[in-house]
Amino acid sequence: MTAVDQTVPGGGRSRAAYDEGTRARLAADAARVVARYPDPRSALLPLLHLVQSEDGYVSPAGIAFCAATLDLSAAQVSAVATFYTQYKRRPNGEYTVGVCTNTLCAIMGGDAIWEELTDRLGVGHDETTADGRITLERIECNAACDYAPVLMINWEFFDNQTPDSAAEVVGRLIAGEPVAPTRGPAQVPTFREMSRVLAGFPDGRADEGVGAGGPTLRGLALARENGWTAPPFDGDPGGPAGGDASGEPASAAAGSTPAGSAPEPGGTQSSVDRPAAGAPERTADQERAEHRADDTSEPAGDPGTTETTKES
Ligand code: FES
Repeated sequence: MTAVDQTVPGGGRSRAAYDEGTRARLAADAARVVARYPDPRSALLPLLHLVQSEDGYVSPAGIAFCAATLDLSAAQVSAVATFYTQYKRRPNGEYTVGVCTNTLCAIMGGDAIWEELTDRLGVGHDETTADGRITLERIECNAACDYAPVLMINWEFFDNQTPDSAAEVVGRLIAGEPVAPTRGPAQVPTFREMSRVLAGFPDGRADEGVGAGGPTLRGLALARENGWTAPPFDGDPGGPAGGDASGEPASAAAGSTPAGSAPEPGGTQSSVDRPAAGAPERTADQERAEHRADDTSEPAGDPGTTETTKES
């Protein structure tokens, strides 16, 4: 082991180049990812997650591996890796704890949670505790405003937090205890485990736990209770936009007008009034599950769409 080939606090490794065995293993995984794209360079985002799952960050070895695999220059790979906040250029903690301090979370308590965790951990934004357990981040809105204020731990949701509940869950991480998000899998994966999932290698836990919860579905429930529908779109009454909120053509939605209301122009009717009598109603979770890849042995669909950009 050399000075540039050593274990780092977050459990990853710092190294300038991979040994033969590691390179062969990564190359086999990379080949499966690259095969999903018509142009190999399109696989760069998942491959950056892959090397991050190996080293705990995008190491010099990881950049060189991606460049060689995709016939890119190291500068091209670095340019992408430095653009997205999910790619770490320094060894990351085992758990990234993100505190949403965007507008709604901030006024609902996010700022107080941030103060509590920075005091307790003794680190600031994008800094890692000395034991390598936690990297703390301020994060922007994670589209969970209905559960504000939220904490994200390795991108799993911890909803409706308080300074005390945030301190409690972080204390458990520091103690090495497993923690479970409010929604999602039964246990939060480590940063390296999550990076491998984002590279397109599912861990089989995508359907664990609650997906869309009550607050998220409240508007849909109210619409169903009241027979509310989406307004018609007058651009193309016969096309998908002239149909219902699910994107179905108007003809497919006609006939489901709630009692006491007049049919809408073009027969438009929102999906909130379906299903038809006798048909089983599909939940949002069922619909979501049907769109997921069910083969956990193959890379999942388009993991490269999960990145968030650097804050300006
Ligand atoms: S403002 Fe925090 S999740 Fe939207």
